[in-house]
Amino acid sequence: MCGIIGYVGGAPAIPVLLAGLKRLEYRGYDSAGLALQAGDRLVALKSVGKVAGLAEKTRQTWTPEEQQGPRVGIAHTRWATHGAPTEPNAHPHFAAGGGIALVHNGIIENYRALRARLEAKGHVFVSETDTEALARLIGEAYQGDLRAAVLAALRQVDGAYGIAVLSRDEPGVIIAARKGSPLVIGVGEGECLVASDPAAIIAHTRRVIYLDDGDVARVTADHVDIVDLDAARIDRSVGELGFAADAVEKGGYEHFMLKEIHEQPEALRNALRGRLDPRQGTAILAGMGTSPRDLAEIRRIVLLGCGTSLHAGQVGEHAFGELAGISASAQQAAEFRYRNPLVDPDDLVVAISQSGETADTLAAVREAREKGALVLGLVNVVGSTIARETGRGVYLHAGPEISVASTKAFTCQVAVLLLMALRLGRGRRLSRERGAALAVELARLPELVGAVLAREAEIAAVAERFADQEHAFYLGRGPMQAVALEGALKLKEISYVHAEGYHAAELKHGPIALLTPGTPVVVLANRSPIRDKVLGNAEECRARGACVIAVMTEGDDAAGIDAVLRIPDCDPLVATIPAAVALQLLAYHVARRRGCPIDQPRNLAKSVTVE
Ligand code: F6R
Repeated sequence: MCGIIGYVGGAPAIPVLLAGLKRLEYRGYDSAGLALQAGDRLVALKSVGKVAGLAEKTRQTWTPEEQQGPRVGIAHTRWATHGAPTEPNAHPHFAAGGGIALVHNGIIENYRALRARLEAKGHVFVSETDTEALARLIGEAYQGDLRAAVLAALRQVDGAYGIAVLSRDEPGVIIAARKGSPLVIGVGEGECLVASDPAAIIAHTRRVIYLDDGDVARVTADHVDIVDLDAARIDRSVGELGFAADAVEKGGYEHFMLKEIHEQPEALRNALRGRLDPRQGTAILAGMGTSPRDLAEIRRIVLLGCGTSLHAGQVGEHAFGELAGISASAQQAAEFRYRNPLVDPDDLVVAISQSGETADTLAAVREAREKGALVLGLVNVVGSTIARETGRGVYLHAGPEISVASTKAFTCQVAVLLLMALRLGRGRRLSRERGAALAVELARLPELVGAVLAREAEIAAVAERFADQEHAFYLGRGPMQAVALEGALKLKEISYVHAEGYHAAELKHGPIALLTPGTPVVVLANRSPIRDKVLGNAEECRARGACVIAVMTEGDDAAGIDAVLRIPDCDPLVATIPAAVALQLLAYHVARRRGCPIDQPRNLAKSVTVE
């Protein structure tokens, strides 16, 4: 949510900042801005809308020679929280008569009180943002040492921040600080970058320092030194980014979403690598880090997540019950800490998050830890806050996910949850034979998903048929109910078609009133003990004129179904993954046909770091 990039080094800063913003645009894209050190001044530009607008404004404002000048700058792409997406509200925000510039991700929770205090002292605010209060606090505290001023200001704020700050009077210096909002420093040869996401710096260097909460770094072209909020020095090691620059390129695909859908066989291969033991019929998950006895004592499992990650948890709920006989419940992370959650030390809490930064999931993790539960992270982004705060867990290894709509992270989350259920099941009631059969099925996942991808043209043809509809329903039972919810979410977020996911039997208890002739109803009717029940529910819809699109196992009789999306025959729990891939493609092609901005749907942002 919102993106920050800063550059200090020997190269012209403007192209680096604009290219970095482009990479970060998936995190927020309603306005953008930059500030540069230019001689003894700070200069800035802001624009409403996408980064391309800011780039155009840069070209119109400065000659090519002028654009080559500045070597130090900070920039931001915004997802509005306080105040509409307007130029005054866009970052950077300024203080000290334009001598200090600040870009900020996160929310300053006590900004109203700070603003009132500053206004009482005569400050005249030019924006509606919380960020401007922080900029002005830094300006107030500035006495020739930017980091000291930032420290003094940060001691007065409550809330979350990732910030980068420039001063007109300290050439070649960026101050970067974080609390609750990620920030990484790229350490190159004679240049350093500051970014909210490594995707923005990978083109320059793979050597990075991840800041921790409370860190305040002074960054110059060839030196990074870090202190805590009490100004005590801190050592942070330089690490290597685990992915290559091309992982954040579209690689010939029209959209990141399509690329990421197609990356799923490889992503699943990586998520499963070294984690299956078909001979023992179990999974090897070192990250669970708990002794077999501790695992055997787990009484209940709570799966926490938001959005797509919550849907993965809902598949997990079924898997833990069925394979391990453990009562599991998937809970909305945003709700968890407000309902006095019943968790105790015998409970396992699994926090599921692609980004590892989702504020609600993080808050739930903290609550669960406080209650003494064993908390594991199921996270994609290595080194993210949830991964670090949980301290133990299982990485997805899905690779960077840039498209706002999550695809490969979902299927890898489900795959890893199935591994966890298999592991726990084998320590309990699951026989070696059943475990081995499931391990074999899981190992086939890249191939199963590949088979769905090979049918993309058929799925696109089905998408054509209902791309003009404004409402759709998705129905499933058992673990496929979660896939129905996920399919509906994918469709609505990228194509703006209103879609609802339901338990297939639930429709007749109310929502069926909404069916009119031709309404698309997508039913998940793969081969399973409840397939015929689902098909019965589909019949109820057809009887009311709905157009039934069924996800069915290859070879199954589709008589009476209006359109079929085929998945290969496999275990019903495993089938959730190829079925989800079919629905991702369906949503993608509907959205493409409708001409929607697929990678950056309106109002959304990747990584929701505010509660
Ligand atoms: C939907 C989507 C979101 C995220 C949700 C949680 O396609 O991507 O619903 O799943 O914002 O994000 P993470 O998984 O990063 O915690």
